[in-house]
Amino acid sequence: MARLQDKVAVVTGGASGIGLACVRRFSAEGAQVVSLDVGQAPADCPGLFMTLDVRDEEQVRQVMHEVVQRFGRLDVLVNAAGIASHGSVTATSTADWQRVLDINLTGSMLTSKHVLGQMQAQRSGSIINIGSIFGLQGCDGNVAYNVSKGGINQLTRSLAIDYGHANIRVNGLCPGLIETPMTHMVREQQAFHDFFASQHMLSRSGQPEEVANVALFLASDEASFVSGQMIAVDGGFSAGRRFAPPAA
Ligand SMILES: NC(=O)c1ccc[n+]([C@@H]2O[C@H](COP(=O)([O-])OP(=O)(O)OC[C@H]3O[C@@H](n4cnc5c(N)ncnc54)[C@H](O)[C@@H]3O)[C@@H](O)[C@H]2O)c1
Repeated sequence: MARLQDKVAVVTGGASGIGLACVRRFSAEGAQVVSLDVGQAPADCPGLFMTLDVRDEEQVRQVMHEVVQRFGRLDVLVNAAGIASHGSVTATSTADWQRVLDINLTGSMLTSKHVLGQMQAQRSGSIINIGSIFGLQGCDGNVAYNVSKGGINQLTRSLAIDYGHANIRVNGLCPGLIETPMTHMVREQQAFHDFFASQHMLSRSGQPEEVANVALFLASDEASFVSGQMIAVDGGFSAGRRFAPPAA
């Protein structure tokens, strides 16, 4: 049997990259999937697409209400909407700081807030927040992003603690460098890309499908006793540092 048969999943950021890979993987496993995004989904995106800006609480409330009206339930939420940012504190305007936190962190709080009522009524649900390796450890010139992803870790734990009694599981994924439109700037700088990729112990970057595979596990009943966890999907990046070139 398909691993998400009879489940209804909503995916923010579902028009691109990791979110889109989740939409495709979940759909292939039998879920009815709704992609939510400010951008346009590709024509071959399976399931239903709805426009949503995760910063707009009233829009979030309406969209989640409409999903429940249409499908009768809501089993899985993936929070993959996000933006990159660059700059140290002195190089970051307050407006840029706020925009990154609003989309990457507050957006995930708002979408969670407006699916929890239905999940509580069902007494089941799985929320999956896409964090980052840079929420587990810092990196230079990336303060707003690092902070937004660090916040995702605590949002994940807080939700898991507050709603576990209703059989709602909340987990997060911390991807390493993944080849998506968000990281095209990295690919444009070959030397930087190769250095960054080499910091992953598998000596390569990842594909969005490799993140979606782990999201699928967390979404499915196979993860029925997993909650409050941040799982690195980073080819070993967070395992540590190499001080010598890898053996041939
Ligand atoms: N690609 C990586 O290397 C990487 C690594 C770690 C974490 N992540 C995280 O994974 C998530 C997905 O990133 P991606 O690499 O797939 O990027 P992406 O740019 O391919 O996709 C992000 C999607 O989010 C959407 N989005 C942006 N602002 C939005 C808003 N206000 N409301 C709704 N949708 C919005 C975009 O339109 C886009 O479709 C992000 O949270 C990102 O921070 C990515």
